[in-house]
Amino acid sequence: MADKKIDDCLSTKNGHLFIEQLNTVDIVKEYGTPAFVISENQLRRNIRRFQKGFESHWPAGPVKIMPAAKANWISAIQKIIADENCGCDIYSAGEFSVALRAGFDPQFISVNGVPKGKDHIFRAVKERARITIDGIEEIDAIEHAAKELNIAAKVRLRVRPAVEGFTKYSDFIPTGPLSTDLVALAYKGGLPRDAVISIGKRIMRSRHVDLVGFHQHHGRHDASTRYWEEQMKAYTKEIGIVSQALDNFQPKEISIGGGFACPRDPFASEVKFSEPYEYLFLHLLSKALSPFPKLRYPILSKILEKVVVFKPKGKMAPSIEEYAEVCGKTLREHLPINGIKIKGLMLQTEPGRSLHGNTGIHLTRIMSLKPMNYPIKWKQAAIDTTEFWFTGGRYEHHVYDYIFANKTEQELVEKMDVLGRSCYGDRLFPAIMVPGDLKIGDIMAMLDVGAYQEVSMSNFNAMPRPATLLVYRDKLSVIRQAETEEDVFRRDLIPEHLQMKEGCKPDITSSIGENAA
Ligand SMILES: Cc1ncc(COP(=O)(O)O)c(C=O)c1O
Repeated sequence: MADKKIDDCLSTKNGHLFIEQLNTVDIVKEYGTPAFVISENQLRRNIRRFQKGFESHWPAGPVKIMPAAKANWISAIQKIIADENCGCDIYSAGEFSVALRAGFDPQFISVNGVPKGKDHIFRAVKERARITIDGIEEIDAIEHAAKELNIAAKVRLRVRPAVEGFTKYSDFIPTGPLSTDLVALAYKGGLPRDAVISIGKRIMRSRHVDLVGFHQHHGRHDASTRYWEEQMKAYTKEIGIVSQALDNFQPKEISIGGGFACPRDPFASEVKFSEPYEYLFLHLLSKALSPFPKLRYPILSKILEKVVVFKPKGKMAPSIEEYAEVCGKTLREHLPINGIKIKGLMLQTEPGRSLHGNTGIHLTRIMSLKPMNYPIKWKQAAIDTTEFWFTGGRYEHHVYDYIFANKTEQELVEKMDVLGRSCYGDRLFPAIMVPGDLKIGDIMAMLDVGAYQEVSMSNFNAMPRPATLLVYRDKLSVIRQAETEEDVFRRDLIPEHLQMKEGCKPDITSSIGENAA
């Protein structure tokens, strides 16, 4: 394999993987593994593509890109996004704090989420952020805060349109096919229509709260542009119905949320609805062969060798520009049909995975090799990372693309389970193809981990979480330090009665019996 460009930030040269201008093998020499590595320029490129793409297809009014902070709320990352003149979608009080520190203009911070605490709402009103109402109870706290602070709180209503035109199964459900429109309706985000209208009417009567628009977010149920076309149709219909019920209310801004796929789109690649049947066949065969112990393992081994291979999707999702085109076009056509004037209407979007995903890689090393020849042939390698640091991706059944960073020219010819280091099965990469001469110390790069992974890590097995490094051209900076063992135990406290001298046994006689009837 010759040197090649993988995408705008990754390439291979002389058998090594590069991120921007940096050789990942050198990064590992200097900083060790495991580590997340993020490209600043890739993040900036993605933001600018979103801005330009949506501006080209939404000439009616301003466009604001408001990336979802939940996808990566590391302070330096949020600072880069604020520096690109974006807004910010936040979910929690913590994300609000990081957004304010990063310097986003509060009128472009969308305070999303359900439930929202009273203090969180009070601070949002005080900071003059946009509150996206997603709970029936919120309006009381907003009105109360606005009155107390003597501020006109600006809010949007988060609707939950039925995407009736898209009945293909949703990628969110791993257990079997279930229509996307139903799955989306069962998601907790978004208010039912009756609630939207009744809160809207109350806002219309309020002297302290000002309704400025609508919001929706459905999530990445499907990567296709057709799904987006149907989402936009459903959204415009819902906006039309609600606006009519609110005496022909005209929104000043609408947000279409996020949910666009990231280009290599690892989402749900692990899900195969036929898998239970394949396992059942294997199970029945293995049972049927049990009277023949000499034959059983050799036959099963051959089948396992041939059948079980775990692969990334290998199919690219639509581009940012294609998503922008379908959204802009459908909104331009269907908002007026539903009675909404589009001149001057601000269009907002909140990309998470599609903006951050391909900005980040994770570098890990092979720590142990265990080839098994008997009773079945099966090879395993253990790496110095764990699925507990990819919780977001495990939840969404990702299969990540990967590259052996110090062996990019070698063909992948051997099948191996590449497993994480926790005490679980930790099947991060079960039955994948690897180079023929895989060795201890070889470096594996997991791609497209810039969204949701670092921020969803846990300390399972008391493992300190790894560092995140930022690449800017040929410079590398630590933007989140690796945890130490001390950090892992920092929150633990030993109560006084457990600080007793050795040998002192506390009284553990049950006290339940005394009060029981
Ligand atoms: C309100 C809102 N906006 C945007 C996003 C980002 O979604 P994605 O990462 O799929 O683009 C989310 C994610 O859950 C969300 O809840």
